[in-house]
Amino acid sequence: MMSAYPKTSALMARGAEFLGTEHAVLCGAMSWVSERNLVSAISNAGGFGVIACGAMTPDLLDTEIAATKALTAKPFGVNLITMHPALFDLIAVCARHGVSHVVLAGGIPPKGSVEAIKAFGAKVIVFAPTIALAKKLFRSGADALVIEGSEAGGHIGPVSTSVLAQEFLPALAAEHLVFVAGGIGRGEAIAGYLEMGAAGVQLGTRFACASESIAHPAFKQAFFRGNARDATASVQVDPRLPVIPVRALKNKGTEAFTAKQIEVAKRLDAGELDMAAAQLEIEHFWAGALRRAVIEGDVERGSVMAGQSVGMVTREEPVAEIFAQLLAESEAALTRR
Ligand SMILES: Cc1cc2nc3c(=O)[nH]c(=O)nc-3n(C[C@H](O)[C@H](O)[C@H](O)COP(=O)(O)O)c2cc1C
Repeated sequence: MMSAYPKTSALMARGAEFLGTEHAVLCGAMSWVSERNLVSAISNAGGFGVIACGAMTPDLLDTEIAATKALTAKPFGVNLITMHPALFDLIAVCARHGVSHVVLAGGIPPKGSVEAIKAFGAKVIVFAPTIALAKKLFRSGADALVIEGSEAGGHIGPVSTSVLAQEFLPALAAEHLVFVAGGIGRGEAIAGYLEMGAAGVQLGTRFACASESIAHPAFKQAFFRGNARDATASVQVDPRLPVIPVRALKNKGTEAFTAKQIEVAKRLDAGELDMAAAQLEIEHFWAGALRRAVIEGDVERGSVMAGQSVGMVTREEPVAEIFAQLLAESEAALTRR
């Protein structure tokens, strides 16, 4: 069938083939938000939905994958956090369901994890902060890479998407599949990254408040009100305790995170925790705070993780309409060239 967006589709062809989708657009996994409803809506609209496993147990992930399959016959992925203590059990759950794509997020994949995923025939998508690490991951079997700039919502690195794209795409995109994430709110930006060689793009913030998203109405309202400058990165309080910055809408929860870091640093000093346990505790804090905002609607004390593109999210729209807008904008931009 002829695409309604021929120039965009032509540039997305490699990425779409890899994902098994109509459009090479992933909705990045968002803990608590990317569950069966949003994931199936994204995949049914021709994109690639990704279940956020987050801190789920293997049993919960098992239920979520089965429930998602009941809502879509299209491909979707599962995002696993590398520091999850039951990572290999979660991989086994994905294997039992024949999940087609696994995204490994949150750190360098531990030894054997890429192999364990490939062993049941799934594709592995990874993140990498440097070109050297990206090359190493491709050599050890990764099938695709997501580069994610600091404009993104949630856990972020220090470098902007525009700079990452200029460094990584010329170096890697001819030989490898590279998806660009962070700060994408409109199709003109998608067109630009595709022209630079990206296989496709990943968006989170733009989809978080779609009609199909189960996020609490108060969470959605906070997004609709929020501007780019409200979506700030958390600050590291103690130089001995490296915490990955998190971008979220500024609120009272931001202060609670400072207090949490001081508490964990003290326990680290007292020898009550080692560094790995300290970092895990910080991550549990985020998972709890995000749940409070997304599920309970406490947008004052919870964590309203959002990227800088939040200013471009102004109302609740069905996923299919968001796709139609993004693709039309991309197509118009490419047609004007
Ligand atoms: C509320 C929220 C929760 C997120 N949770 C996760 C997560 O659990 N795992 C992950 O790999 N990325 C997570 N992300 C990042 C997204 O998958 C995606 O890469 C990011 O949102 C893309 O940038 P954008 O927000 O500028 O579109 C989260 C983002 C948001 C906004």
